[in-house]
Amino acid sequence: MKFSFFAALLVILLIVVVSCHHKADLSIAPPKPAPPGPEFKCSHDTIYFQNFVLPVILTGCAKSGCHDAATRKGGRVFDSYEAIYKMVVPFDPQASKLYTILFSGSSQRMPPDTPFNADQKSIIYWWIAQGAYNNKCDSAGCDSTNVTYTGSISPIVQSWCLSCHSGSSPQHGLSLETYADVVACANSNRLMGSIRHESGYSAMPQGATLSPCDIALFQKWINLGKPQK
Ligand code: HEC
Repeated sequence: MKFSFFAALLVILLIVVVSCHHKADLSIAPPKPAPPGPEFKCSHDTIYFQNFVLPVILTGCAKSGCHDAATRKGGRVFDSYEAIYKMVVPFDPQASKLYTILFSGSSQRMPPDTPFNADQKSIIYWWIAQGAYNNKCDSAGCDSTNVTYTGSISPIVQSWCLSCHSGSSPQHGLSLETYADVVACANSNRLMGSIRHESGYSAMPQGATLSPCDIALFQKWINLGKPQK
């Protein structure tokens, strides 16, 4: 009797703690995402859709087996600005399904398998808070003759690869966080085949394709001897 009373009390306490924690996540604005490096030639305060939001959604939501054009889980495809914008109330992240669903209970939460990390959640929050525009920073340009790791490659890797290839247990045991990491990956000869989606390679980034311009920049960087700066 006594035991079950305390057990019930414990359960109630747990529910209160868990639900308070849950609410706190949503009502408080998260800190802004880490600013891009000095090589990023556009505003360091703006969360650009094409540079920051689309990579997070394509690799997290529009991947194969989920919300890509082939699978259409729940009838939804999230591979374009128009489709993503339907889940957004501009300037109001807390009223936007695209943001609130990241915090839903376990059966509802998206993405279901690997939840977004704090930086990815705050990218979505601040993009919506800034009006959810279809904006893009084209800082490096495609035909730059002077392709370096810091100027061109690192920004692409940050947007498109680090959500999976960083931290203490990166996917495939492959970290791409530092200059040395990316050089090692290029030296292993697995890099170009995977971003070109060639047969015999795992297509990267998972769930998306880099623009022809970004792929060309990788190739130029390798041809130039992989300069750092
Ligand atoms: C959504 C998660 C995710 C993203 C984003 C991602 N990867 Fe991967 N990557 C993986 C997984 C998972 C594997 C292992 C795939 C396998 O075994 O088929 C992998 C494997 C690789 C491999 C080895 C492929 C091979 O065939 O040997 C390379 C190289 C690679 N990734 C590079 C990249 C690069 C470069 C980017 C960014 C342009 C990137 N990845 C983005 C998840 C990801």
